[in-house]
This record gives sequence, structure tokens and C-alpha cells, in this order.
Amino acid sequence: MDFEQLARIEDELTRIQKTYEIFDEDTRLSASPAARVEFLTTVRYIERYLRPGARLLDVGAGAGAYSLYFARRGYRVSALELAQANLRAFRAKLTPQDAIELIEGNAVDLGRWPDASFDGVLLLGPLYHLHSEADRQRCIAEARRVCKPGGALFFAFISNDMVHLTEFCYRPDYFTKGSYDKETFRLEDFPFVFHTVEGCRAMLRKGGVKILHEVAADGASELLADKINALPPEDYAQYLRYHAYICEKPEFLGMSNHLLFVGEN
Ligand SMILES: C[S@@+](CC[C@H](N)C(=O)[O-])C[C@H]1O[C@@H](n2cnc3c(N)ncnc32)[C@H](O)[C@@H]1O
Repeated sequence: MDFEQLARIEDELTRIQKTYEIFDEDTRLSASPAARVEFLTTVRYIERYLRPGARLLDVGAGAGAYSLYFARRGYRVSALELAQANLRAFRAKLTPQDAIELIEGNAVDLGRWPDASFDGVLLLGPLYHLHSEADRQRCIAEARRVCKPGGALFFAFISNDMVHLTEFCYRPDYFTKGSYDKETFRLEDFPFVFHTVEGCRAMLRKGGVKILHEVAADGASELLADKINALPPEDYAQYLRYHAYICEKPEFLGMSNHLLFVGEN
């Protein structure tokens, strides 16, 4: 499977499946100190709202990075994932001590769980795969339904406005040859679906989510990866503190490959 073959697949769920035969989700958040910034930032916000013992649903759980982290710290974790490649990688990491309920399924239908089952729901992926606004709203509505009133909701997006700079770093002809509208700078939604900060806000407000935090989850970490990965531990720790200091500043928000929105149900 290559990108050209992937682009020809019309059925969305099949395309999501095949996407993860190309992208190695298993190591995405752990491959290097730079890659770790998104994970550490997201964990910090989740831990701010949910304590060990809390019931957590990880929707679009990928290879299980968040599910495993929280289950091993005393949270009661259920996880749902669509892509076989990611389910396989997730299952391969499970030990007999990991009491995680792992379900194969689609984020637009969480019908196996009753209303108000969870203290918190993670939706860190599906909203940047689903092309139709109606499906994204179904996904948000389902996450809200299974979350308790007043519970915590966590949403991830990929920032339309940052991806241009990231792509430019990989290919010098990007600004003339890249796949985006040359007037509006709207990216072609392939292989992911991209959103502006304002677009994320509007989507979540339409879904009735009360937004508590808008966060630049990884900031410029991918662009600065060589420098970040060369840092001695003390400097890396201070870089993480700097990132924590800027990550909610509105002037930095769109300049992040990944965005994290935290909401109250
Ligand atoms: C980039 S990965 C992120 C995985 C993990 N949540 C994380 O943040 O590291 C996006 C995940 O969402 C999953 N996904 C996308 N659309 C989905 C859907 N409709 N239902 C369930 N999972 C979905 C993908 O298969 C993929 O594993």
C-alpha cells in the first residue's frame, strides 16, 4: 500500500484501516524526546481532570499509548479502535495485569456503553479522520452521551495552518507543488482531515461542549526535533516547562501540528 493506492480507496473506513498499514502508530508518540512532547502534554491535562480510579474511555485508541499509561496507574480503562494494524499493536503490548476492555468498533457508535458510563472520554484521533461534519457531530454526541454530566472530554485535531510549515521542512517545492488551495491555504484533506483553531472551536460548540482549554499539544516540536532530541535531560525538562508555559497562549495555538481541546460535558 502506498499513498497513491490509499487515495483511490473511496470507502472511508477502509481508507482509515489502510492508512495505518502505512503509518506506524505504535511508535509515533514514543520514538524520540521530540515525539514525546504531545503525549506528555496531553497526559498532563488528563491528569488535571481525572484521578486514578476514574473510568476512562479511549476512543480511537490507536496502539494503546494512553490506555496503557492510564490503566497502569489505576484508572479503569475501556478502549475502542477501528484499524486492525493498531489493534494488533495494542494487543501485543497487553499483559495479564492490564485490565483494559479493548473493543473493535467505530467511534460514531458507542452503543455498547450505556449513558453516563465514564468520568472522562478521549477522542484523540477520529475527528481528524472523519470527512463528514455529520459523522464528526455523531462522534462528539456519542462521546458526550457515554460521559457523565460534568465529566471531562479530550479532543485532538491536526492544525491546518501548521501543516504547511511542516511539509515545507520535508520538501522545498511544497509552496508551489503542495496539495492545498493556493488562495485560502486550506489543505487537501488527505490522508487526514485538517482543521483551523476556529474550525475546532465551532465544531465543539455546535456539539454542545463547554471548552475549558485550547492547547498547542506539540507546538514546533517536530520542526525542532533534531535540536530537541540532542538535549541533555536537564535542558529537555526545561524545554517541556517552556512548552507548558506557551501551549495555551492564543498567539501560539495554530502553530502546532496537533491541537488538544479539553471540554466539560
Ligand atoms: C493518529 S491515531 C491516534 C491514536 C491515539 N488516540 C493517540 O492519540 O495516540 C488516530 C486513531 O484513530 C482511529 N480512528 C479513526 N477514525 C476512527 C473511527 N471512526 N472509529 C474508531 N477509531 C478511529 C485510527 O484508526 C487511529 O488509530
